[in-house]
Amino acid sequence: MTAKQERGLNEGMARHGLQFQPSPVDFVALFGRDAPTVLEIGFGMGMTTAEIAGMQRDTNFIAVEVHPPGVGNLCNLLDEHELTNVRVMEHDAVEVLTHMIAPNSLAGAHIYFPDPWHKKRHNKRRLVQPPLVALLASRLRPDGYLHLATDWVPYAEQMLEVLSGEPTLKNTVADYAPRPEWRPETKFERRGLKLGHEVRDLLFRKW
Ligand SMILES: C[S@@+](CC[C@H](N)C(=O)[O-])C[C@H]1O[C@@H](n2cnc3c(N)ncnc32)[C@H](O)[C@@H]1O
Repeated sequence: MTAKQERGLNEGMARHGLQFQPSPVDFVALFGRDAPTVLEIGFGMGMTTAEIAGMQRDTNFIAVEVHPPGVGNLCNLLDEHELTNVRVMEHDAVEVLTHMIAPNSLAGAHIYFPDPWHKKRHNKRRLVQPPLVALLASRLRPDGYLHLATDWVPYAEQMLEVLSGEPTLKNTVADYAPRPEWRPETKFERRGLKLGHEVRDLLFRKW
């Protein structure tokens, strides 16, 4: 962790951080306004998060990551870009979803380039599995969206199968979606593209 990231973690979290609590959070009280709220799971260094939040200032974002340097980095980016529509959590997203996010409350959820390990023995540990997707779907409000992206085609196939198998979700397209204009290229995406990987987006809605 760089000194700047450490400062972001120690000082920036006082401004942008949201602590874990074992009960549902009131979005209106948290953001001081009534606006659609989107959850991001695993924001990495937070560049994409800050960019999207800057483009969508009328949307609230709860960004969750377990990697402290990334948490510090996102806090610094929020200060640099004077963004007030993001709350940052350093916590396990499954716990956050289970305890802090009320059913039928999210306008959307983002998971970009999760699990960059491509060995077969890691497949069991992948984040996007039926129980997580059922939990996420239960937290989306009707018509809320789930947007995923990966640069690993076998994982994209798994995502498509798992999302298609969740009865409360509906694909917005036949299979993979074009990258929405509001999703900038992420750090891991550039790394994947350099390695010759193909990127797939998935965009489902709750119905
Ligand atoms: C490969 S990185 C991608 C980062 C970023 N989305 C991007 O595209 O550049 C995946 C991130 O997900 C985070 N992550 C994995 N499981 C998580 C969980 N259960 N809760 C929160 N973050 C998680 C990891 O720490 C890692 O930073």
